[in-house]
Amino acid sequence: MEHSDPNSLVARRRRRILITGAGGQLGSALAEVFAEDAVTALSHADWDVRFPAPPGLPDPDLVLHTAAWTNVDGAEDDPQGAAEANVGGTAHAAELGAPLVAYSSDYVFDGRKGSPYVESDSPNPLSAYGRSKFHGEAAAGERAWIVRSSWLFGPTGHNFVRTMLRLGAERNEVAVVADQRGCPTYVGHLAAATRELVGASTPFGIWHLAASGDCTWADLAEAIFEEAGLDCRVRRITTSEFGAKALRPPVSILRSEKDAPELPHWREGLAACLAELGVPR
Ligand SMILES: NC(=O)c1ccc[n+]([C@@H]2O[C@H](COP(=O)([O-])OP(=O)(O)OC[C@H]3O[C@@H](n4cnc5c(N)ncnc54)[C@H](OP(=O)(O)O)[C@@H]3O)[C@@H](O)[C@H]2O)c1
Repeated sequence: MEHSDPNSLVARRRRRILITGAGGQLGSALAEVFAEDAVTALSHADWDVRFPAPPGLPDPDLVLHTAAWTNVDGAEDDPQGAAEANVGGTAHAAELGAPLVAYSSDYVFDGRKGSPYVESDSPNPLSAYGRSKFHGEAAAGERAWIVRSSWLFGPTGHNFVRTMLRLGAERNEVAVVADQRGCPTYVGHLAAATRELVGASTPFGIWHLAASGDCTWADLAEAIFEEAGLDCRVRRITTSEFGAKALRPPVSILRSEKDAPELPHWREGLAACLAELGVPR
C-alpha cells in the first residue's frame, strides 16, 4: 500500500489543496478546517465534475473531492445522472494526479449485517445512489483515501437537522422514521478527522469516519427538539410508512477496524451545529 504525507511540504510552502463541491455542506466545512493551507475552493459553477477539470487550475498537492449527486431518492429516477456525477466525477478528480480524498457513504451497504460495518465488509448497495457511490470508490484510483461517512449535517445546505428545526418551529408533531439506525455526523468533525487522516502518513484505502454513538432518525429528531427547546412531538413511523422512493439500509453504523481518527459522539456534533446556527439551548 502506498503512503503519502502532504504535510511534508509544509516546511517549504503551504499545501495547495483543491476542494470540489465547495458550495456543499462538507465542502464548506473543509474550506474552514484547511484555511491555513492554500485552498482553491471550487463550487459546482466553477467545475462541473461530470466533465474534465477546467484549464488553469493550480497543480494541487491534495484534492478533497466532495462534489456529488446527493439526492438519494432523485437518483432512482435518473441513475445515469447520478453515475455521471459520482463515478465520472470521481474519475475526473483522480485525473488531477494528486493524492485524493474521495468521500463515500454508508449507503454502499445493505444494512442487513445487523452490527456495525468495518472497512473490510462487502458492500451491497440497495439504491441507485448507493451503487453510484460504490462505483465511485473504484474510480478514485490507487492514490486515494476513500472516506465513508454517514448522515451528514452542518449549519448550511440541505440536511435533517435544519429540516427538523424548521418543522419543529411550524408544527407540534412530526412523523419520523424509527427503524433505520446510523451515525449522524457533523461536517465540522468529519473535516477535522479528514485533516488528521491526511496529515499522518496514513495508507491510502478505505477508511470509515463517522460520529461515535448511533441512533435512529426519530432519536435524532427528539434530540434536536430537546436541545433547541422546541415543543414538538416525534411520532415514530416505519420506513414503509414513510414510503421514500429509494431503499435505505436499516442498520448502517460505520466503525473502523483500522487506526482511524475518532470522531466525537453525534450529540456533541449536534450541539456544535446548533451553536454555529445560533440556536439558543
Ligand atoms: N449528506 C449525507 O448524508 C452524506 C452521507 C454520506 C456520504 N456523503 C458524501 O459526502 C460528500 C459530501 O456530501 P454533502 O452532504 O456535503 O453534499 P451536498 O451538501 O449536497 O454538497 C454536494 C455539492 O456537490 C455539488 N455538485 C453536485 N453535482 C455536481 C457536479 N456534477 N459537479 C460539481 N459539483 C456538483 C452540489 O452543488 P449543487 O447544490 O449546485 O448541486 C453541492 O454543492 C458526497 O460525496 C456525499 O455523497 C454524504
